[in-house]
Amino acid sequence: MLVTQQPVLKRFWYPVMPMEQLSSDRPQSFQLLGQAIALWLDEAGHPVAVADRCCHRSAQLSKGVIIDGCLRCPYHGWSFDRDGTCVNVPQLAADQKIPASYQVPAFKSAARYGYVWVCLHDEPLLPIPYIPEADDAANRLIPQFYEPWQCSGLRLMENSFDNAHFSFVHAASFGNQQQPEPASAELSTLEYGLQLRATIPVVNPPMQQKNLNIPQENTFRYALSTWYMPFCRTLKITYPNGLMHLIFTAATPVSDRVSQIVQFCIRNDTEAEAKAADIIAFDRQVTGEDKAVLETTDWDTPLEISAEQHMLSDQPGIIMRRKLAALLKAHGEVEQRSPFANTFQVRELGDRHTP
Ligand code: FES
Ligand code: CO
Repeated sequence: MLVTQQPVLKRFWYPVMPMEQLSSDRPQSFQLLGQAIALWLDEAGHPVAVADRCCHRSAQLSKGVIIDGCLRCPYHGWSFDRDGTCVNVPQLAADQKIPASYQVPAFKSAARYGYVWVCLHDEPLLPIPYIPEADDAANRLIPQFYEPWQCSGLRLMENSFDNAHFSFVHAASFGNQQQPEPASAELSTLEYGLQLRATIPVVNPPMQQKNLNIPQENTFRYALSTWYMPFCRTLKITYPNGLMHLIFTAATPVSDRVSQIVQFCIRNDTEAEAKAADIIAFDRQVTGEDKAVLETTDWDTPLEISAEQHMLSDQPGIIMRRKLAALLKAHGEVEQRSPFANTFQVRELGDRHTP
């Protein structure tokens, strides 16, 4: 599926940037589903997202500056407000009216969980995923990763629900090589997602013994994974001692082959019990192990079930494909594929497929 060519994917919210990277004097740029956007904070401190292209001579607006909450184009100084309406044209005389057509597209934006979320469509199909644990003042939220990966969102989503990869991909961190059989899991489908419950035996290396306050070399994860269509998931892990480690991960689609990984975790312990830096370090190792493999997979990930081979533990990934295919169909779309999809995968155009 080429995500930039499926318009219905514009009807979801995606986390695009940590709020702390936004300012009220310099705009930032991001690319969401191939759409370049300029981001900043208005005078009330709310995030703003508009198309990153001036309607005058197409200059990149995010190279401009913010003045009084409005974005001023670097080329001729036209200014745009949070609705994308041009509110100042320095070349016009004071009594001349600004034409209503001086307008750039503005997008829905919201701050949640410390990130700016953007929806490219006026009518999102779903709200921003609700994570009740984030509202509990007794818990702490730790931002973890914000980085581009060369893989599709679907690959990362199914990886999160894949109980068969731990013993191989995560052999150096928590994977139990003595138990390669996937833990049995209980699967339930949601209207726009799915949930998986599993009890997973894991190795508990020294770094984790400290992070979890579990001194044993082996332990269990009671894991509840939730997929929020199309590219967000939570993994709520509870350990036998009651510690909760809830991971939120989004694979925000930048382009057909790049996803921006946005990950934070929520814990019910304190900094005195486990340092945030140590928690990030362990999850960095695990996440890096997944990244190394996922970046070798085909980014034009097929929804068609028969295009790849499967085993029993792939059920969540199969359901994701079916649900995404049904979403496209319900909105009158057919799956768009790369012209090279059925021959061999192209990582970078001009790299693997050129002679
Ligand atoms: Fe933006 Fe001219 S290109 S003001
Ligand atoms: Co993994």
